[in-house]
Amino acid sequence: MDDLKAKYLGQIADAGDENALEAIRVAAVGKKGEVALKMRELGKMTPEERQVAGPALNALKDEINSALSAKKAALADAALDERLRTEWLDVTLPTRARRQGSIHPVSQATEELTAIFAELGFSVAEGPRIETDWHNFDALNIPGHHPARAEMDTFYMHRAEGDNRPPHVLRTHTSPVQIRSMEKQGAPIRVICPGGVYRADYDQTHTPMFHQVEGLAIDKDISMANLKWVLEEFVKAFFEVDDVELRFRASHFPFTEPSAEVDIRCSWDNGQLKIGEGDDWMEILGSGMVHPKVIAAGGIDPEVYQGFAFGIGIDRLAMLKYGIPDLRAFFDSDLRWLRHYGFAALDMPNLHGGLSR
Ligand code: PHE
Repeated sequence: MDDLKAKYLGQIADAGDENALEAIRVAAVGKKGEVALKMRELGKMTPEERQVAGPALNALKDEINSALSAKKAALADAALDERLRTEWLDVTLPTRARRQGSIHPVSQATEELTAIFAELGFSVAEGPRIETDWHNFDALNIPGHHPARAEMDTFYMHRAEGDNRPPHVLRTHTSPVQIRSMEKQGAPIRVICPGGVYRADYDQTHTPMFHQVEGLAIDKDISMANLKWVLEEFVKAFFEVDDVELRFRASHFPFTEPSAEVDIRCSWDNGQLKIGEGDDWMEILGSGMVHPKVIAAGGIDPEVYQGFAFGIGIDRLAMLKYGIPDLRAFFDSDLRWLRHYGFAALDMPNLHGGLSR
């Protein structure tokens, strides 16, 4: 028995890995192992012999088992130490130069305009893309029969027969977020609401999904003059120029009164889009003083509060700023296009660094 003990404890001490340890376990204390075979011999012994050999065999078995589990734990510890020694990461290394992915111009433009409006005191609000037709239309002073519903080429959500939930649409503009923000925050309020919107339209400057940023400023004494200043400051900062020629055109929206559309001077030479020069104008936004009915629909007293709102096409801003001639390519997911027009992922837009480095 002493030989068995010396033999197996020695093997266990020398075992290099878990497999070796398992082989030793089977040979020593497994069902057909050496200790089990010895136990079978107990039957042939006299009761006196058995009284000595039985407990001794059990003690041997216990000793081998605990040596096995101690060694197993030691091997696991050593394996972990080895992994900790070899698997490490130098977090101070610079990132790889080769660009794997890039930031889409729409995301880049959204980050840039958010930085600019944040500087002007606007915070970011969001709303759902699948919107109730009340938020998208009625609350914005566009009742059911209003021609604006047809003009916007609205996508309506399918409704099963007997479905009595309120009708939903894919929002045709970000203006419903005006209502949701007023409902949530009350007045005074200064928010921008960037996000995707949908209209059934498709050509060089229209896609069925595109992006807008809504602006809303409501307080007791906000006027059209504030609107004009904010838009001019924004456009100068966004295009990173001292002056950009803007054209404020009297217009009409059901949710603003008075209303103005704003165009930016540009040219299209041989399909090349240039901003700030030429004889052409590109419409980039709609704006105006928020209609009292809209303020009331947002739960704010229009006798006390007034303010302005605007809706800017983000994709168009990106086309103008980065000279991208066709909007449809924005959403083709063509890797060559994304590599050409995309931005490095770690270049965060900010005002002091220049927005679009
Ligand atoms: N919602 C309008 C559109 O989609 C833009 C707009 C927003 C106009 C806010 C006025 C005020 O065209």
